[in-house]
Amino acid sequence: MQRPVIRITCKMIPALGNTSVRMRDPQRVEETLRCMQKAGLNTLQVISDFDMTLTRFAHNGKRCPTSHNILEISKMISAECKEKLKVLLDKYYPIEIDSSRTIEEKLPLMVEWWTRAHELMMQQKIRKDQLTLAVQESDAMLREGYQEFFDCLNQHSVPLLIFSAGLGDVLEEVVRQAGVFHPNVKVISNYMDFDETGVMTAFKGELIHIYNKREGALLNTGHFEELRSRPNVLLLGDSLGDLTMADGVQEVEEVLKIGFLNDKVDERLPSYLNSYDIVLLEDETMEVPNAILDFLVAD
Ligand code: TMP
Ligand code: MG
Repeated sequence: MQRPVIRITCKMIPALGNTSVRMRDPQRVEETLRCMQKAGLNTLQVISDFDMTLTRFAHNGKRCPTSHNILEISKMISAECKEKLKVLLDKYYPIEIDSSRTIEEKLPLMVEWWTRAHELMMQQKIRKDQLTLAVQESDAMLREGYQEFFDCLNQHSVPLLIFSAGLGDVLEEVVRQAGVFHPNVKVISNYMDFDETGVMTAFKGELIHIYNKREGALLNTGHFEELRSRPNVLLLGDSLGDLTMADGVQEVEEVLKIGFLNDKVDERLPSYLNSYDIVLLEDETMEVPNAILDFLVAD
């Protein structure tokens, strides 16, 4: 029953026939894409998570760092603090990806993780002028095909919002060093507050963790107000918490949700298929998002 539908979608966008691609309802994907293409690029905005969505999960069998990990492994953090942060990671990351617990159960534990990790970081006298080096020395990697993705959006003046529960100062540096911090890019994330000597003293504003992106979006109504004329959204994420990133979009029409499923693929696939329109299994590339952009650009 589903086969012919999949073929039609693949004809539109051959990359949707890749072995890494799963779709709950290929026909809906096709309809959404056709509507978005018809409406034109000037009605589109892109909202993307950062860690493990724009960046790779692994490369040559080795895990790539999140924006938090980039700081953790840097010289700015003491050995004792590194150990404490690792204990937190080992405790809370399995909870983050545990498909047997509900979001409601995980939420207080995720708040606990972020709060404890940020408290530890605040004691480390992190220097603003050393962030560039920390990123240079890290193994942070954007996904293969990132340049085409960022350049295409910029070339067509499509706004890209990077919405991250990671560290804004660090992720900006990753994007800048990759040469793709174009004028169409805006970031909502956790930013550090530095004193007059350039030493970090706190985090600014409300904490963004993995499950409060909806609240984060609603605190940034100004951004979404500016983009009122763009009711169509391409959303990219890797966590079920990323699904609410578009909740601040005004008068929303079409939303196409693309989810990277990087870890514990078999047990998490059912919940990802239920909530993302397109699920990409252990796919370290931007091939599918780029193919979708190519389709939307061609009219
Ligand atoms: P994201 O919203 O850009 O994906 O960032 C959230 C990721 O950050 C999430 O997958 C867990 C990760 N993280 C760490 O790696 N170390 C930490 O200490 C914390 C608090 C989060
Ligand atoms: Mg992520």
